[in-house]
Amino acid sequence: MSGRFEARGDVGIIWIDNPPVNAISHAVRVALLDGLKQAEASGDIQAVVIACAGRTFMAGADITEFSGPLKSPGLPEVIDALDALSKPVVAAIHGTAFGGGFEVALACDHRVALASAQVGLPEVKLGLLPGAGGTQRLPRLAGLEPALQAMLSGDPIPAPVALGMGAIDKLVEGDLTEAAVTFAREKIGSPRRRVRDLTLAPNAVPAGFFDAARQRTAKEKRNLFSPQRIIDAVEAAVTLPFDQGIQRERELFLECARNSQSKALQHVFFAERQVSKIPGLPADVKPRPIQSVAIIGAGTMGGGIAMNFANAGIPVTLLEVNQEGLERGLGVIRKNYEATAAKGRLTAEQVETRMGLIRPTLSYDALAGADLVIEAVFETLEVKKKVFETLDRVAKKGAVLATNTSYLSIDTIAGYTSRPADVLGMHFFSPANVMKLLEVVRGTRTAPDVLATALDIAKRIKKVGVVAGNCHGFIGNRMLEGYMREGSLLVLEGATPQQVDQALVKFGMPMGVLQMGDLAGLDIGYKSRKDRDPATFEPKAGAVADKLVEMGRLGQKTQAGYYDYQPGNRTPVPSDAVARVIEETAAGYGIQRREITEQEILERCFLAMVNIGCEVLREGIAYRSSDIDIVYLYGYGFPAHRGGPMFWAEHELGLPQALEKIREYGRKYGNRWWTPSPLLERLVAEGKGFAQAV
Ligand code: 3HC
Ligand code: NAI
Repeated sequence: MSGRFEARGDVGIIWIDNPPVNAISHAVRVALLDGLKQAEASGDIQAVVIACAGRTFMAGADITEFSGPLKSPGLPEVIDALDALSKPVVAAIHGTAFGGGFEVALACDHRVALASAQVGLPEVKLGLLPGAGGTQRLPRLAGLEPALQAMLSGDPIPAPVALGMGAIDKLVEGDLTEAAVTFAREKIGSPRRRVRDLTLAPNAVPAGFFDAARQRTAKEKRNLFSPQRIIDAVEAAVTLPFDQGIQRERELFLECARNSQSKALQHVFFAERQVSKIPGLPADVKPRPIQSVAIIGAGTMGGGIAMNFANAGIPVTLLEVNQEGLERGLGVIRKNYEATAAKGRLTAEQVETRMGLIRPTLSYDALAGADLVIEAVFETLEVKKKVFETLDRVAKKGAVLATNTSYLSIDTIAGYTSRPADVLGMHFFSPANVMKLLEVVRGTRTAPDVLATALDIAKRIKKVGVVAGNCHGFIGNRMLEGYMREGSLLVLEGATPQQVDQALVKFGMPMGVLQMGDLAGLDIGYKSRKDRDPATFEPKAGAVADKLVEMGRLGQKTQAGYYDYQPGNRTPVPSDAVARVIEETAAGYGIQRREITEQEILERCFLAMVNIGCEVLREGIAYRSSDIDIVYLYGYGFPAHRGGPMFWAEHELGLPQALEKIREYGRKYGNRWWTPSPLLERLVAEGKGFAQAV
């Protein structure tokens, strides 16, 4: 049963009960219609309340139904029935009235809410627009600008703010249902107050309002399909009579629903929720309590990591080798907080509270009480060995010992201690106080409760934790190697750095692969190539970067790398000197430079990455292809509207086409880097997708 009807004297309550979030499934739509019919038919019932059982009001349409044909009655039909009712209707809102749920409430005469409730139209986050009247009703109720902003951002609106906007009539405390019933009873006998009957005066629209919104949105929501359609729909609310506006909204909603971006964003919605489900992790495993944290190393990463804990109110001890390192690290942290305060997002007092939670030290004695220690020192095994041997001596029994290593073996590092079950990787992404991803790397001997602790703490510091197995580069950096290799080879073969980068940015990446090298510092790859066995990487791919480093062009920090940079400006400027280095290097290898198409750039960069992703999946380094997608969305800025690299390969390209292209590049460029993953070959041969990979 997804709903029931209760008569409370002269007020009828339509109860919806579809745990966990009262998503508006087919059964809920039927229950709503039935309730409305009963309310209309009963001579005793004079007013109606729509209320929900459990933790929330209806949190929107049931997204799982979007992939199949829609079963009648659709939500617009239910809302038409609500509009046609002869008796006043009040929505009783607690929890989250989102999407279709808020649209049901908007079709009621009045909305009564708990102050803790939130309302909102988050459809844009799913590549959609409000498709059950939201684009026509919210502007009538709350005004054009606030309504448009709410739909374009999709962000939740706290009930007190919604009250101020006019989208909620009354905030109540205590028994919500009783308050809503009392409110409804007061309306008995009054004519219906239907939002559709409110007028939006066309002359109230500032000149150029919609054009300005379109231009701003094209910049802020680059490449996105639904935001522009939202503006079209809201414009219809102004220019067309209500019923025609609804018709226009429907057409635009269907356009969005058919668009590939919506499918990709729905995939992301479910991928985000899957990621915390860890196969084999016992349901009753309890995370270890974490009340204090220590970080070793206050460099680029250690400082950012410390900020995450201070932001969550968790005290952090920060250890460095000398006073100078400590002061430098603390100075960067303070500068970051002060920059946030200057933007008005923190008060001076909050800055001091957070700084106060970070306790600098040069002594390991200060770490003895920490429940969790995260090492973020130089990326060499010798240094990590010393740190973990010391930690083994000083850390308290049961402390979780984590390393932020980018590439090194968690098992080797765990082996430096007498307690390998307590050791795992917690791999943050730069800037660590900003990027949402945390790769949680389980070693062979990591204990289940240690893994659970890392995932739990990820949530507390507002990160998305993705579990990865132990291998060189784990999920993200291992795949990145293919991406960077092809980006660099394309430059040698004939593309300019800007041509490669522009193709990637046009695809939706926040920056191109060569710009990314300049940002991180070309010296990082240079050092790692000097340390690595040349048989494990493509030397040609590093040849240009090596020469640039030897010329002192380390990237943005020296205002010269693949590009030139003006002081204080991150805009890349093409460099003639680099063009010459590229040509000379290519000539040195006997490479005939040629025209390279945008299609080749995208296919080579992303398919190299995806082919490694298939190996990551085959080896069990990632549990699911959707986990890999989440790593790329939150760690590397892969565009969400393409769903992630694995979703892109499967749904935009198609796995058979992806395999054929990989084989084609293998024939052209040799099989060393273009041997198709056996997993990809098997899936294509069996006509299966990534969901059936394991
Ligand atoms: N449809 C189907 N399932 C949904 C759902 C929905 N709208 N919203 C949440 N769920 C599922 C989740 O997948 C999850 O399932 P799982 O336990 O099997 O993984 C479960 O409900 C609980 O969800 P969360 O883990 O997200 O729970 P939280 O308490 O953290 O968050 C929430 C609750 C704030 C309601 C959050 O789930 C949310 O934002 N949901 C989506 C809201 C939304 O986008 N609504 C608009 C839908 S589109 C629409 O309405 C179109 C209309 O205009 C026609
Ligand atoms: P960094 O060079 O900026 O900082 C390292 C800090 O560790 C320095 O301040 C140094 O003084 C300190 N240090 C060195 N030995 C120490 C010791 N024995 N005890 C205490 N402190 C010590 O390096 P960065 O970039 O912060 O990297 C740290 C770790 O994080 C490395 O393992 C790196 O691979 C990893 N990482 C780096 C990322 C990046 O983008 N920079 C991203 C993700 C992981």
